[in-house]
Amino acid sequence: MRPDETGIEVAADLLRAGRLVAFPTETVYGLGALATDAAAVAAIYAAKGRPARNPLIVHVPASEMAATLAEMPAAAEALAQAFWPGPLTLVLPRRLGGPLADAVSAGGASVGLRVPAHPVAQALLRAVDGPVAAPSANPSGRVSPTTAAHVLDPDSGLGGRIDAVLDGGPCPVGVESTIVAVGASGAARILRPGGITAEALEAVLGASSEAPVSPVEEGALGPLISPGQFASHYAPRARLRLAATEPRPGEWWLGFGPDPDGVDPARSLSLSPSGDLREAAARLFEALRHLDVQAAPGEGIAVAPIPAEGLGIAINDRLARAAAPRG
Ligand code: TXA
Ligand code: MG
Repeated sequence: MRPDETGIEVAADLLRAGRLVAFPTETVYGLGALATDAAAVAAIYAAKGRPARNPLIVHVPASEMAATLAEMPAAAEALAQAFWPGPLTLVLPRRLGGPLADAVSAGGASVGLRVPAHPVAQALLRAVDGPVAAPSANPSGRVSPTTAAHVLDPDSGLGGRIDAVLDGGPCPVGVESTIVAVGASGAARILRPGGITAEALEAVLGASSEAPVSPVEEGALGPLISPGQFASHYAPRARLRLAATEPRPGEWWLGFGPDPDGVDPARSLSLSPSGDLREAAARLFEALRHLDVQAAPGEGIAVAPIPAEGLGIAINDRLARAAAPRG
């Protein structure tokens, strides 16, 4: 559906009636259901083939609604103030007796909350005027969608399993939100690198003197981990070889920066010829899909090294999961 006034109204009515509607956010497309409707939330798990122990992010139009659903320790307030609306999810202690379906927390005592900045997501959430649970709109374990066509793809998407998708064009950030858990004590920890960099988080957390914060860690996630962060995820069919210096015979090439000698333009794509990490993040999932479709059975994809800084942390995280052995 087009995301005009009528499209937004129809989508909001569908959600309020317990149906599934995919919509664009600035990171990736989400598969939405009313977060207060247990049957609708169960339908998300069924459509994605998602394990029941993997909780969902609840999307709200503004931080006022977030504060009605979860405790907001001072560090969470500071992060919300700095990065909402935007590509940040906060995992917070859930308020008891609230309106959310239990399944959004997968039986846990926390809830992941996000205020997306995308104008279509904002318009939809305001029209619904309630919390909307939305995982990435892909079958569980597969590459996240950054266009409406990806969402509807009959092979790698959810075509035939959902009620509608609002088409807002390609998602500008291209990798999912950064997930930060903030406990009741105010200690903060990154559970998933994403669209907001660790440096940006540290700049805010370091400045909030009220709440002591443990150092924000990347990579080694410590005892806390998002249940959805299984090693193999974002998986294309073709095998990936990371930090490659050049393609081997039979390999496709996914470049970053200037290509090495001998790369066949007909068998390669670049995440960013100029070596720009934002551009690379925005193109990542589309590029993986594109090469995966073209690669013949048994052919692999060699990926150029991506600098491990800023958005490169999130890009390398998704590439590592896409390359991991399949379970
Ligand atoms: O950018 C995004 O975050 C996108 C858009 C649609 O908002 N959503 C997204 O959702 O990536 P999903 O379900 O694909 O990934 C959410 C991750 C999962 O790894 C899940 O385990 C984790 O967030 N998560 C959600 N709630 C959590 C909670 N209460 N505690 C720990 N991890 C949680
Ligand atoms: Mg996902």
